[in-house]
Amino acid sequence: MRVLLTGGAGYIGAHTAVELLEQGHEVVLADNYVNSSPKVVDRIEAITGHRVRAYRADVSDRAAMEALFTEQEIDAAIHFAGLKAVGESVAKPLAYYRNNLDSTLTLLEAMERHGVGRLIFSSSATVYGTPERLPLTEEQGTGVCTNPYGWTKVMIEQILRDYTAAHPEFSAVLLRYFNPVGAHRSGLIGEAPNGVPNNLMPYITQTALGKRDHLSIFGNDYDTPDGTGVRDYIHVVDLARGHAAALGYCAEHCGVEVFNLGTGRGYSVLEMAETFARVNGVAVPYVFAPRRPGDVAACYADASKARRILGWEAVLTLEDMCRDSWNWQRQNPDGYEGA
Ligand code: NAD
Ligand code: UFG
Repeated sequence: MRVLLTGGAGYIGAHTAVELLEQGHEVVLADNYVNSSPKVVDRIEAITGHRVRAYRADVSDRAAMEALFTEQEIDAAIHFAGLKAVGESVAKPLAYYRNNLDSTLTLLEAMERHGVGRLIFSSSATVYGTPERLPLTEEQGTGVCTNPYGWTKVMIEQILRDYTAAHPEFSAVLLRYFNPVGAHRSGLIGEAPNGVPNNLMPYITQTALGKRDHLSIFGNDYDTPDGTGVRDYIHVVDLARGHAAALGYCAEHCGVEVFNLGTGRGYSVLEMAETFARVNGVAVPYVFAPRRPGDVAACYADASKARRILGWEAVLTLEDMCRDSWNWQRQNPDGYEGA
């Protein structure tokens, strides 16, 4: 298939591009590089030996999308493009609603004009809000998010349900990611946050590198085995394989389907820091700090639906995640900047 990856130069998009190219698909990428680098395209091509057709375009730009869909015969789209920083979304709600909703609507309109009927959307476990029961199954209620970023995901899921109800031949797959970490084993692509990282793994890798003095562990008084927060970390390469499986599914089914993409296993912040230090033979100094507002104690997936229906499951271990994150960070201390 020829697959459009909006936001395809980003962290998850780039890994998915590699996976799809290696499986024999063609990749068309559209990114405005607001949170990524055009250098990613060269890296994807270097890893796979295949060409990527890359468009520098804002997905909210109707004319740019029209040109892309006219030039390329797209079979399916994976919509990664979006702003994703939780804290920033609280400070700049309009920017988040504008970018994330507008890009989705503009993409859907272009797809409709060009008769493209398959879409995979990057949703998030954040749509579950505070978990009622663990592990989280897809049936658990969504809504009541603690930040505008999360609300954009809930709203886009609803837009896709409404659109598919009106167009029963349309196929939409909503993938709710848990916590993606790790990098391609080549060390050529990985997560490259701007400024001080918000997320745990890049903070750990930058601490190990000496760029950050120490890791602050936000809360050690949660109701969890060691008191620190528990999350379902998933290797980004497993996540990328999940997209390839979803693509196969959406080629053969109509309607909306939701899948959790996680491992089904939770690890605490302390386990993460200690495993990272052990696997890589590096020091990760840490201090305990107050809880971070908006954080839940524990969040992990029931990943059985994706296994049952997509035939997909995560296979890479926590050790793989720690080793590959460090391999990427060491080779690219300044992300794509120094490349
Ligand atoms: P990322 O920021 O690395 O990638 C997103 C890409 O979209 C970037 O390359 C950015 O430049 C691009 N982009 C943003 N707005 C755009 C626009 N209007 N037009 C064109 N390009 C645009 O983020 P990621 O971690 O790869 O996440 C991909 C998707 O997965 C996002 O929608 C994110 O919300 C979602 N998600 C991520 C996580 C996570 O922890 N990384 C968890 C759950 C869901
Ligand atoms: N943490 C620390 N110190 C840090 C950073 C994080 O202790 O410096 C802790 C957090 O308190 C939490 C865990 O590490 O317990 C994971 O935090 P992340 O920020 O890496 O991830 P979150 O689970 O908070 O959020 C992530 C994505 C969101 C997404 C959500 C879905 O960042 O975009 O998963 O569950 F919505």
